[in-house]
Amino acid sequence: MSSLLRNPVAKRLLRPAAALVDQRVQRPVNRLRKELDSLRREVHELRGNEYAVSLLFDRTGRSGPRLPTPAQIDRLVAEVAQVSGADQAAARRNVTIAFRNVIALEALAVGRLAGSTQNVCGKLATVPLLSPPNAQVLEIGTLYGLFSATLLRMLHRAGIEPELTIVDPLAGSQLQPGGLEGLDPTGTPVRVDVVRANLALGGKAGERARVEVGFSGDPEVRSAVSDRQYGVIVVDGDHSARGVTEDLEWAEEIAAPGAVVVLDDYGDRKWAGVQQGADAYLAGATRFELIGRVSTSAFLRAR
Ligand SMILES: C[S@@+](CC[C@H](N)C(=O)[O-])C[C@H]1O[C@@H](n2cnc3c(N)ncnc32)[C@H](O)[C@@H]1O
Repeated sequence: MSSLLRNPVAKRLLRPAAALVDQRVQRPVNRLRKELDSLRREVHELRGNEYAVSLLFDRTGRSGPRLPTPAQIDRLVAEVAQVSGADQAAARRNVTIAFRNVIALEALAVGRLAGSTQNVCGKLATVPLLSPPNAQVLEIGTLYGLFSATLLRMLHRAGIEPELTIVDPLAGSQLQPGGLEGLDPTGTPVRVDVVRANLALGGKAGERARVEVGFSGDPEVRSAVSDRQYGVIVVDGDHSARGVTEDLEWAEEIAAPGAVVVLDDYGDRKWAGVQQGADAYLAGATRFELIGRVSTSAFLRAR
């Protein structure tokens, strides 16, 4: 410290100036402190709100998180537009409405929808845009029935009053080659009463749906379900290559001309058998033509 500042007279004389400097420095510091406190409170509040929102959208009790990024939605919209031939605006509208339905119905559901948000919304958005030739819908492999319930709503929006048939063994848990799938994230049994509860979310068409309990290869099931030609067939049952091939063979017999066939989990590494079986089948003589992919679903059109 300089000797001038140690001098008591100089110190006394400089005191008012020092106090002024102190005040000038202190004021902005106080202001900053206040702003910081208010920001801290805001962040705390936002984190609290975000937590409540995440309870609606996170992965707990379902297939995965329902929190798509803008880039994921943009990509999905482009794929839906490409496969369906619809313009971007129509594809975006359907993807958005599909997403809202997924959130709403899954929140009320007994059980869950199977698959990633992009895969589920992709199927729901694309099928109505492909203008199926009639209102008959068949889903092979339903698990909790919730995808069908949501698809009924998406078709109804497009002016189609759908009629639904479902085939699934509804054996208590999801069956796949090699046995039962592990414990379901929902903890909900795969049973006909559960499927019925979810179909009710699909409105009148859901309540009227036919549920054939059994395997798609069972002769009794095939004979009961083959009483009509379907405008939409969703193949989502046995995911082995052989299971997919056999379902496509059957679908070939019961698909109306122009029918839309959705092959779920095509290209999904977890279910390699789906693409293997489908590619082998489509390489032979068939009236099904692969029209494209959206997320991890392939779309076929029957000639
Ligand atoms: C992946 S889950 C279906 C998911 C449902 N489509 C969805 O999107 O939420 C497959 C369902 O097919 C059933 N399944 C397995 N083999 C089948 C077969 N041969 N015929 C019909 N369903 C079968 C399983 O038990 C399971 O309920």
